[in-house]
Amino acid sequence: MNKNNYAEDLTHPIFEIITGAATEIGNPAYVIGGFVRDLIMQRPCTDIDIVTIGNEIELAQKVAKKIGPGVKVTVFRNFKTAMLQYQQYNIEFVGARKESYKFTSRKPDVEPGTLQDDQNRRDFTINALALSLQTDDYGNLIDPFSGIDDIENKTLRTPLNPDTTFSDDPLRMLRGIRFATQLDFEIEQNTWTSIIKNRNRIEIVSGERVTEELNKIILAKTPSKGFKLLESSGLLELILPQLLALKGAEFMEGIGHKDNFYHTLQVLDNLAKKSDNLWLRWAALLHDIGKPATKRFTHENGWTFHGHDYVGSKMIPGIFKKLRLPLNEKMKYVQKMVLMHLRPIALTEEQVTDSAVRRLLFEAGDDIDDLMLLSEADITSKNPNKVRRFLNNFALVRQKLKSVEEADKIRNWQPPISGEIIMDTFGLPPCREIGIIKTAIREAILDGVICNNFEEAFEMMIKEGEKLGFKPIK
Ligand code: CTP
Repeated sequence: MNKNNYAEDLTHPIFEIITGAATEIGNPAYVIGGFVRDLIMQRPCTDIDIVTIGNEIELAQKVAKKIGPGVKVTVFRNFKTAMLQYQQYNIEFVGARKESYKFTSRKPDVEPGTLQDDQNRRDFTINALALSLQTDDYGNLIDPFSGIDDIENKTLRTPLNPDTTFSDDPLRMLRGIRFATQLDFEIEQNTWTSIIKNRNRIEIVSGERVTEELNKIILAKTPSKGFKLLESSGLLELILPQLLALKGAEFMEGIGHKDNFYHTLQVLDNLAKKSDNLWLRWAALLHDIGKPATKRFTHENGWTFHGHDYVGSKMIPGIFKKLRLPLNEKMKYVQKMVLMHLRPIALTEEQVTDSAVRRLLFEAGDDIDDLMLLSEADITSKNPNKVRRFLNNFALVRQKLKSVEEADKIRNWQPPISGEIIMDTFGLPPCREIGIIKTAIREAILDGVICNNFEEAFEMMIKEGEKLGFKPIK
């Protein structure tokens, strides 16, 4: 399967254009990094990195000119890179470089170097592969660290001494765990030992970068793999200690509770099979985050985690802020999912009544389908009878949700009686009582005491107003 020349895979016309431009300038150019890795692994990739032994801006501009008018080169002088977009590709040009790092920063001092220098500075052997774009050896693989064997053996290994690679740029420890998760690779022993040794260096990496990697782990097919590696490397403690706090099972009077860390990872994996929604996956990761703070043991009840849904939802803003996740409606959505994650399960334990389903639909609104997915993913019991019972109940809740939705249109529901109508009817200024009347009407509809229509709601408004001593003015 492995070959030394990939000319037949570099079929897109862009590569010939780059070859032409590099030849005219007289400086060699190579495709390098993730694109080559993905090409060999037959994964789609739209980011192409080109390294040239020369001036990257000159090459980018010549390539742009050859493609035709309207192609704009963006130059990032600070990073000494130039970029352009062509069809579906983002193409980044960089001059081959040597890097030297200071202990306190991820930003290296850069000086021009050879192709080999440039390959040396890369994070993993599988990311240090280059393909020549010169006419005489077009498509030849340049692989000084046997990256191709590492792809074959599904191994992540640093090109140089891992302590150098990770200390230079500690983000690479997370990248390693992310690649292991995304590609289902194993991290080679020395590389792994070095991650454990250098883990505290993660402190110089910005929250945004950490989160970018966490998001990629969460979006992988089996995200649990990444979180187990984060845990065993000691990195989880540094980046998301609240999740680590779920680990372990305590015993009292011979009674243990389940290990909520592994349970959470199972929930996340379950959900990942059903949904690619990043925020729903975050909700799965954080759904039990309030458990350590609410854990109690009593002789009568054993272990309980009462209110962990509420406490957990209150913890979300702090976690999002620390991780530089957006503090907007995405965060509110995750909070809502964490707060409500028990609701569909609780329903299955009692009678699944119309009014309970109506209330659930009202509170979840458009997020009801996501909530059902999360709740279903939360079933990790090993007891097949229990699982079957839960799943049957879920099917029933789903069916009821459908019929209640069709009959009552509760999703995204606006109560039929507004505050203005109440004020107009009784000639009232804005006051507390209006809220009382509105709530009474809403509760009556949700409980199925009255139907969800204007007439019945209006009639009830009159009754409730009269109870409070008001009289209609017309
Ligand atoms: N690289 C590195 N160290 C980093 C980031 C990147 O050595 N901290 C190198 C690797 O050779 C990598 C290349 O720069 O292949 C491009 O980086 P990037 O686009 O971030 O990653 P990819 O490997 O392309 O993978 P992905 O797109 O999945 O992030």
